[in-house]
Amino acid sequence: MKLKGKNAIVTGAGSGMGLAMANLFSSEGAKLILGDWNQQRLDKVVSDIKAKGGEAIGIHGNIADKAIAESLVEKSIEAYGKLDILCNNAGIMDYMQGIDEVTDEIWNKVLEINLFGPMYATRKAVPFMKKNKGGSIINTVSTAGLHGGAAGVAYTTSKHGLIGLTRNTAWFYAKEGIRCNAICPGGTATNIADTMPKDKLSAFGSQRAGVFGGIIPAFLQPLDIANLALFLASDDSKNINGAIINADAGWGAA
Ligand SMILES: NC(=O)c1ccc[n+]([C@@H]2O[C@H](COP(=O)([O-])OP(=O)(O)OC[C@H]3O[C@@H](n4cnc5c(N)ncnc54)[C@H](O)[C@@H]3O)[C@@H](O)[C@H]2O)c1
Repeated sequence: MKLKGKNAIVTGAGSGMGLAMANLFSSEGAKLILGDWNQQRLDKVVSDIKAKGGEAIGIHGNIADKAIAESLVEKSIEAYGKLDILCNNAGIMDYMQGIDEVTDEIWNKVLEINLFGPMYATRKAVPFMKKNKGGSIINTVSTAGLHGGAAGVAYTTSKHGLIGLTRNTAWFYAKEGIRCNAICPGGTATNIADTMPKDKLSAFGSQRAGVFGGIIPAFLQPLDIANLALFLASDDSKNINGAIINADAGWGAA
C-alpha cells in the first residue's frame, strides 16, 4: 500500500478525476477528506469508500469560498492530526469566450474556483505541512495551463495561474520537504462538459479552440490521471518537485 499511514484532501472528489483519485488513494491506504459542492455525489463517494472499509469525511461547499477551502485543512488536522497530501482538483470550464466576449461574471467565477480555491487551500495547508516536515501538493491543471488554444480566456488564464502557484510553492518550501507538482491532463472522459452548456458557448471561441482540440491524439480516462496523482502523492516521487507533467496522450507535444 503506497499511502499507508498518510492522509489526503481531494477537492472535486464527487466526479471524474477527483473521484478516481479518492477511490485509488483509499485503496492504497490513505485516510481522506473529500470536498465537492455537489452533495449527492459527495455523499456517494464517502459512503462507497466507507463500505469498502476505507476512511473518508465529506466537506460540502464551494472551493471558491475561503472558509470552505480552509475547513478542508482544518478538518484534516482535527480528524487525523496532520495533512500529508493536498489535491487541488476541483475545477470548471468557461464558455470558450475570448477577451472581447468574456463577461465579468464568468471571468470571476472561473478564476475564483480554478485558482483562488487552490490558493486558499494551499495557504492554509503549508504551515501544517511545515510542522509535519513534509507534504505533497498536487494541482490538477490542464493542457490549457501551457497552451493558448485549448479553452476560453478565463479557463486558460486560471490554469496558467495555477502553474505559477505550483512553481512558486515548490521552490519556496522545497527545503521544508514540501513538494508541489502539477498534472496537465488532456481531454479526459469526465462530467466537466456539464459546466459548459451548449447554448452559452461562444461560437467564435469554440471554433478557435476546436482547431487545437481537433488534433487530440486520444482521450484519457480519469484513472490515468489518478495513477499519476498516486505517484506524486507517494514517496515514489520523493525528489520530484515543481514538475509540470503532461498526461495527454501526446497532445501537448504538438
Ligand atoms: N476533463 C478534462 O478533459 C480535463 C482536462 C484538463 C483538466 N481538467 C481539470 O480536471 C479537474 C477535474 O475535472 P473533471 O474533468 O474530473 O470534471 P468533473 O466535472 O467530472 O469533476 C469535477 C468535480 O468537481 C466538483 N466541483 C466543481 N466546481 C467546484 C467547486 N467550486 N467547489 C467544489 N466542488 C466543485 C464538481 O461537482 C465535480 O464533482 C478540473 O480542475 C479540470 O479543470 C479536466
